[in-house]
Order: sequence, then C-alpha cells, then structure tokens
Amino acid sequence: MPSIRFRLNGVETDVDADPDTSLLATLRGPLGLTGAHFGCGAGECGACNVMVGDHAVSACDTPLWSVANKDVTTIEGLGDPQRPHPLQRAFIAEQALQCGYCVSGILISAAALLKRNPDPSNSEIRAALDRNLCRCGSHNRMVRAVLRAAAEMRNP
Ligand code: FES
Repeated sequence: MPSIRFRLNGVETDVDADPDTSLLATLRGPLGLTGAHFGCGAGECGACNVMVGDHAVSACDTPLWSVANKDVTTIEGLGDPQRPHPLQRAFIAEQALQCGYCVSGILISAAALLKRNPDPSNSEIRAALDRNLCRCGSHNRMVRAVLRAAAEMRNP
C-alpha cells in the first residue's frame, strides 16, 4: 500500500491507504478525525468540508492522492474547547447552530473565506456558504456569526 504524506492540522502525516480512497474516509477511518461529517457523499452538501490550503473542499469526493504534500485543516485543527477559533465563539454567541451536523463544514467554509477575505460583505459570506446545506434554517444567524468573527479577527 503506498504512503501518502500531507500536513494535517499543521502536523506532517503519513497514511498508508489506497490513493483513490476519499479524503473523508481516510480522516474518519485510520486518522480518527470524525469532525468532518458524511452527508450526501456526492460533493453537494458541504458537511464534509475541510480546508486544503486556503480553500474549502468537500472531502467526500476528494481522493487522497490529490492532497499529497498539501496543507489540510479539519475542524479539529481550527480550535478546541480551550482555545476556540473566533468563528466558534461567534457561532455560540449568535446561537448559530441547532442540530450541529452541518456546522463543522460551515465553520471550515467560513474560515477559508476569512483567510482570503478578512472583511467580507454580507453577500460575500452568503456566496461562500451557498454550497453548505443546513436543514435547521440557521443561515441568517450564521452570517451574523461570520460578520462578528471577522470583526473580532480584524480587531483582536
Ligand atoms: Fe461531502 Fe455532502 S458529504 S459534500
């Protein structure tokens, strides 16, 4: 089995797996990171989003070989209960999550947006989150949370 190396949440990581395995299956299986969720399995819902470089990608339809030597950030690498990311604090403050199933993917999409654009407009946030589905209907709260986090990150 070939070994694929990439940086996972800042740590050089080698994984022995079929290169055509999905990144999501590799994260949730041998790497034990279950924050990215399986939703549609077809690149349509965003529940499985992770960051590759500065962009959110759906891990369910990203083959492992394609992230070789790249930076991959999962929700586990964004923050933790002791040191939450400003987006995580803002989502709690704005009560922007309900069932929570989609939220790790949404936080990743928002984090990728703020990496590229630290001062996004309301419509830019909506465009960035457009491919993340949420059946709880929390989108307006999520947009407010991203605006709140962006403001905090610009003026820490
Ligand atoms: Fe990957 Fe839906 S599970 S986009």
